[in-house]
Amino acid sequence: MNNSTLLVATLLSILSTVATPASADDKALELFKRRITPILRSPNPSSCSECHLSGVDLKDYIGDTQEETFAALRKAGLINMQKPDESKLLTFIHRTPANASPVGREARQQEFTAFRAWIRAAVKDPVLAAAKTDSDQLGPKVAVEIIRHGRQDRVMASFVQNIWSEVGRCVNCHSPDLNRKRIGRDGNTKEDIDAISWVVPRDPGATLQKLVDSGNIDLEDPDASPVLTKPVGLEEHGGGPKFALGSRTDKSFRRFLNDYAAVVNGQHTAADQIPMPSNEVAVSTGQHLRIVDLPARFGKKLLRADIYGHDGNEWSAVPWATAENPINGEREMWQSMVFATAAVGSDRALTLNEKYVLPKGRYLIKLYIDRANRLKKNRDYELGESEFYGQVETDGAWKVGYQPPKIIHAPAKD
Ligand code: HEC
Ligand code: HEC
Repeated sequence: MNNSTLLVATLLSILSTVATPASADDKALELFKRRITPILRSPNPSSCSECHLSGVDLKDYIGDTQEETFAALRKAGLINMQKPDESKLLTFIHRTPANASPVGREARQQEFTAFRAWIRAAVKDPVLAAAKTDSDQLGPKVAVEIIRHGRQDRVMASFVQNIWSEVGRCVNCHSPDLNRKRIGRDGNTKEDIDAISWVVPRDPGATLQKLVDSGNIDLEDPDASPVLTKPVGLEEHGGGPKFALGSRTDKSFRRFLNDYAAVVNGQHTAADQIPMPSNEVAVSTGQHLRIVDLPARFGKKLLRADIYGHDGNEWSAVPWATAENPINGEREMWQSMVFATAAVGSDRALTLNEKYVLPKGRYLIKLYIDRANRLKKNRDYELGESEFYGQVETDGAWKVGYQPPKIIHAPAKD
């Protein structure tokens, strides 16, 4: 065959697929071969992947023969013999995300009409109705916990909690909303600035996609993702270091990136491999804390300040806010923006949003200094009692903004 006859043959075969009506008279087997088997063989992910990043695929529901497929689907309760159009498998396929892509919509439509036509014909076929199987092999291969963990909505909730909540530190330079004033400055062209605009304003889903597409998330080596290595100071970064190794933010970024890669790569195989989500929510308050008179010898060491509120009677049981940064040894001071925190599911968590600020009043500030540089060696380490340095009380208003910050003196020590 030369190229043009090949083309004609291909066109004819496509036309015949499109033009044949899926009437109830069609033989089930013919439908299975012509419309279901190609789904199994297709190299493309099924429409399920728009909501399930891994763990389920429509291919999991298709066996080698139609007898096996039908019997197994029936056994799993996915076929409705009386009302074939109401078969549960069809409702799975029919589910459509609000932001479905055109490709996803088309794949879904094809899968749906193919399975509906085949199921309609199959329930009328006495041979299939009598088919039996011992196989429980059809359907997802992983535990239901893993399927749930791999859902798009769960993954997005984790992205929002761990990375998007911190993106306020990045938007001035990385959001097209706010970085236009950089065009023309330091020789930057519009293209230069567009090239680093990975934030999609008000759209965490599109931002995550853009980070992946631009290579700023490394799915093979998540800890090597530029979205982490640049702001944490492991690689050159035009914006300088934004948070320290082992800090809360570093841990949050790594928690998301490592789990996201494991989900996308389908690496979780047992429910107990699913990492625990963070039990804390945090939002930027826009308030800043400065500590002066710190010993110069603590230069470059990470200091964390846990900030306890006062309810009129006593200090809060858990911190209302936290802040961390390396100490500036030359200036014997430390400064950081403050993040309000709360336990997931607590009443206080409900009050935290982008507008939240720490109210005027009394605060107890507990200071922890990583004197032994433990966090540099083990980024998962948590500063605790052995790093406690001292505590300071403060009172009064706490303005939003970098200048002036709230200023406290380091506890008198040496
Ligand atoms: C529009 C988003 C969406 C699409 C598309 C989608 N699902 Fe789901 N799926 C969900 C949600 C949400 C749940 C969990 C809650 C529920 O069952 O309503 C779920 C649950 C499931 C479960 C049960 C797991 C459990 O939590 O018990 C299976 C199995 C499943 N889906 C398979 C599929 C298959 C197969 C496809 C493709 C043919 C598919 N889904 C397409 C959103 C979707
Ligand atoms: C003061 C400006 C500024 C801030 C704030 C800033 N960055 Fe950057 N960032 C830059 C500049 C300039 C570049 C381009 C040069 C380079 O690659 O380092 C860059 C590059 C990047 C890149 C690579 C972009 C690409 O596609 O090439 C990533 C990822 C990144 N920054 C992440 C972050 C994160 C995460 C934050 C917030 C925690 C942040 N940056 C905050 C200025 C900033």
